[in-house]
Amino acid sequence: MIINRLKYIKKSLVLFLSYMKDYRVYQNASLIKKHEDVEGVHSLGLIIRLYHTIEKGLSVKERRYEFSMDHIELLQKKMMTYCGDKNEPHFLSAFKTLGIYFSIHEKIECSKRFNAQARIFENLKKKYGKTEIGGGTKSVKKVEYPNRIETIEILKKRHSIRDYDGEFLIDKQDIIRVIDLAKLCPSACNRHAIKIFYSLDKHKNSEILKYQNGSRTFRDNVPGLLIVASDLRYQEGVEERNLGYIEGGIWLMSLVNSLYLNGFGSCVLNWCVSPSHDQDFKTAFGIPEYYQISALISFGKQTEDQKVPYSIRCKSEDFIEKVEL
Ligand SMILES: Cc1cc2nc3c(=O)[nH]c(=O)nc-3n(C[C@H](O)[C@H](O)[C@H](O)COP(=O)(O)O)c2cc1C
Repeated sequence: MIINRLKYIKKSLVLFLSYMKDYRVYQNASLIKKHEDVEGVHSLGLIIRLYHTIEKGLSVKERRYEFSMDHIELLQKKMMTYCGDKNEPHFLSAFKTLGIYFSIHEKIECSKRFNAQARIFENLKKKYGKTEIGGGTKSVKKVEYPNRIETIEILKKRHSIRDYDGEFLIDKQDIIRVIDLAKLCPSACNRHAIKIFYSLDKHKNSEILKYQNGSRTFRDNVPGLLIVASDLRYQEGVEERNLGYIEGGIWLMSLVNSLYLNGFGSCVLNWCVSPSHDQDFKTAFGIPEYYQISALISFGKQTEDQKVPYSIRCKSEDFIEKVEL
């Protein structure tokens, strides 16, 4: 009885200390300073969030003139003082979006506050000139779906694959093709603050996977390995403290689907580890602390025939619950 109690207290304490460690990492890495004071990568994260709200405003059918002036002011201030790479696609897209914002106001009489911002934009224009990159809004057509049933049947045939053709060589271009599709997944404020660490060396993968407890039976024959991590430096404040895992999860599924559609079998591998294990792993493979690992994915060409766990699913009704008012 007493032993059980002590075990419980010990586990609770370890849990508390683990949260403290997560807290310290998040506090060090994320954007929790006053918006006025943020710089570098943090500043880019803020710029992305701000210009994306302008994009959303521009896409609203019945929008007000001079909408989001607070955001415009802060965005332009951050862009004027931004010290990072000015050719960064998001930075240029922010510039493009501002151009569209100001152009829709051209023929109307605007407030002093607006005109002051329009003058600041003229200065930005002098600095950055024209950009070919997209920004603002785009038109989308309702998708006609001739092969709906076929697509559903293909998706139903995806299974986690753990037995790979060890002779088939994967190259970096294969990964780029996979990312080309995977990156089309949704992301909060379109930030996509994600980094995919990869390795295409079977021996190295076996070493990496020694840190992962769910791959013991197949870790020596893994041709491709992805480590899906969120960049905490882009997460903002208290409210976004869990966003890294959400974004990581969305990317995981998008990568799994893209790998599948590009002809690779894959298996998500959990990263349910203690903070000290996480730290040892990052130190061993040179991954900075501000990358929050969601999970790993092993992948490769599927062998001809293999058995996979049955992995039943509950009835779809069991997953849902109506929200009552
Ligand atoms: C977050 C997550 C962690 C997982 N970890 C492991 C793992 O460590 N080892 C493994 O063999 N499979 C792992 N899987 C794969 C699951 O076992 C598998 O997705 C599940 O049984 C459903 O089967 P299916 O993917 O074939 O439909 C993981 C899946 C997810 C989503």
